[in-house]
Amino acid sequence: MSFGLSRGRELDTTGFGIEPPDLPPFEEGRIDPRAWFDQPAHPFELEIGSGKGTFLVQQARLQPQTNYLGIEWAGEFFRYAADRMRRHQLNNVRLLRADATEFLRFWCEGQVARVVHLYFSDPWPKKRHHKRRVVQDHTLREFHRVLQPGGELRLVTDHAELWAWYEDHAARHAELFERTDFDRPESAGEDEVVGTNFERKFREEGRAFHAMTLIKRTAPDHPA
Ligand SMILES: C[S@@+](CC[C@H](N)C(=O)[O-])C[C@H]1O[C@@H](n2cnc3c(N)ncnc32)[C@H](O)[C@@H]1O
Repeated sequence: MSFGLSRGRELDTTGFGIEPPDLPPFEEGRIDPRAWFDQPAHPFELEIGSGKGTFLVQQARLQPQTNYLGIEWAGEFFRYAADRMRRHQLNNVRLLRADATEFLRFWCEGQVARVVHLYFSDPWPKKRHHKRRVVQDHTLREFHRVLQPGGELRLVTDHAELWAWYEDHAARHAELFERTDFDRPESAGEDEVVGTNFERKFREEGRAFHAMTLIKRTAPDHPA
């Protein structure tokens, strides 16, 4: 039960939220998150840092044949988003409460995802906190591993310095990913890049947005 973001309404994550105790000990080996869905054979995409779940609730209803996993480590946001998916009966969405980088590194099987979405990730502006950013040399290698051949990592930010960090990482890992333009998802509203909660908040402040898509390369020295 939770009464924060919900303004007094009881949140119910039953059937839509996956919590750390639901995960097997990582020593038992990797798992396939597609098994958490009613239709595990459907294409699978994941979003890191789903916040209130605005992207998922909009996109998943337009793409009912695609399964979406939102990974959110903040309990309040996780519960709010999972309850939101339950209220909308979006059976092609699950929310996982976890550090996404740890889940991908220690639990997630390879070659499972068609897309990894990362929108308005925390910029961690202080230099000593840069190691907390989601995109790092080692996480790019994990994204490459969990993506299917030709799979995509989609990045959007308003933060100029984080954008420079993305550009730098994309250039340094050009052997893993080919950088391309960002295609707006079907769910984005007119004049929106994606249409997440943060995008809408930042738009009112007049901020500019930056976006790119990194497509997984499969090369002999970097096997799928
Ligand atoms: C700035 S908010 C953006 C939320 C949403 N993507 C949007 O655009 O409205 C970033 C979110 O990512 C979550 N987050 C940051 N790092 C994370 C990680 N390693 N694993 C899971 N969630 C993370 C935060 O708790 C927060 O809810």
